[in-house]
Amino acid sequence: MKAEIGVLGMGVMGRSLSRNLARNGFVVSIYNRHVDGVEENVARDFKAAHPELAEAAMAYDDISAFVQSLAIPRKILLMVNAGPAVDAVMEDLSAHLEENDILIDAGNSHYQDTIRRIKTMKERNLHFIGSGVSGGEKGALIGPSIMPSGEYKAYQHISRYLEAIAAKDSNNQPCCAYIGEQGSGHFVKMIHNGIEYAEMQLLAECYSILKAQKESNESIANIFEQWMEDQGSYLLQISVDILRKKEGDAYLLDLILDKAANKGTGKWATSTIADSGEPATMIPAALFARYLSSFKDQRTKAEALFSSPKEYLSILNDKLKEAYQFARIINHHQGFSLIKNVSDQNAWQVNLSEVARIWTAGCIIKSDLMKDISVTLNQADNLLFNEPWCSQLSATHSATQQVVIKCMENQLPIPCLTAALNYFHGIKIGDGSANLIQAQRDYFGAHTYKKKNDPSERSYHTVWEG
Ligand code: 6PG
Repeated sequence: MKAEIGVLGMGVMGRSLSRNLARNGFVVSIYNRHVDGVEENVARDFKAAHPELAEAAMAYDDISAFVQSLAIPRKILLMVNAGPAVDAVMEDLSAHLEENDILIDAGNSHYQDTIRRIKTMKERNLHFIGSGVSGGEKGALIGPSIMPSGEYKAYQHISRYLEAIAAKDSNNQPCCAYIGEQGSGHFVKMIHNGIEYAEMQLLAECYSILKAQKESNESIANIFEQWMEDQGSYLLQISVDILRKKEGDAYLLDLILDKAANKGTGKWATSTIADSGEPATMIPAALFARYLSSFKDQRTKAEALFSSPKEYLSILNDKLKEAYQFARIINHHQGFSLIKNVSDQNAWQVNLSEVARIWTAGCIIKSDLMKDISVTLNQADNLLFNEPWCSQLSATHSATQQVVIKCMENQLPIPCLTAALNYFHGIKIGDGSANLIQAQRDYFGAHTYKKKNDPSERSYHTVWEG
């Protein structure tokens, strides 16, 4: 008997996806490399430890036997770390693959790497699908959000597996949708992570504001829990759980070092934002907040050097919630505008509403807001100019301003809330100050400028001195 699909790599995500496939009735081959004394019989032991794999899985640590165990065209999910490891396993597999076999990279690969890999594989009549997968270990096991891309005809061979194991939305539709050609799936996953960074940072900022008001962890948890009523999201819910978690008599959160790490997708998103020309300011703000947090020694030294206000903040919880709501709308608006911009540049034709829909369940940024956004993006490609978002931004703008002003007066850093507000103020100024930038550029570099009220849009240059 041949297996329908293979999973290569028995790390956390590979193990969970294998079990998910088996539970959905597929016969699966699982493989983990053999490294003497370090990784031995990993797949076999994993199979033995999970009853659902007993009948449904075949376990290998020999790559040739693994490949030969698969039905043709072979479909292999690559579950290895993004980066050189993906190229290395592709190299290991290459001698064993035959025309039309399909590799599916379900890790957090850079979308440009995916574009390159699709091209290399195509030259050998092999197919490569780059797929974003979100939901962490638990999501992979019970139903992640899946964002596949590459050649559509190759996707058709694997859609039934991915759709079966994906989370289901509120209409019981799979949170898996073909995103487009090339690396669009990994691109969309990268922006998912960027939005995730900003959503996490916003919650950290709200937490810091409430802490500065001397609220206890328990009371912050209660406040966040109230917000769940109309701002429900996975990240807000886990923050409630985190705030309440104790280790002995202490709150675990208070024991955790305040240095945020990252695995690189936020950095990639930020570089892509810079390359794209899209003013998506909140993702970079969230990334740099993480970088700043890692400068613990300098922060401690600077705290002793510079004075801080003694007053305690006082911001009404309702106002803070409105500011949080305002900034989340801007964050999602920026994220989806960025997807649209890069999709247009690459002619990917990414369906924004479908992206939002497959992010309503299974993934880290699933939320009630995302459900409403999916509805809007079905008819429009922008949140800023469409209801209910216009009205919500107008209604929450003043509270956001008050929160930002209070935090500035109290020297409390809130880079994401501020970025959201500045973006909003910037985007709604029809006549701004960039005329001075253009004049300066022309002054020192003869870069030219265009004039208001000149429909020909011709370029002007002035000799500014003398
Ligand atoms: C997901 C997560 C997942 C992972 C991030 C963490 O969607 O399941 O985004 O991909 O948790 O890569 O990223 P950082 O380590 O950079 O925070």
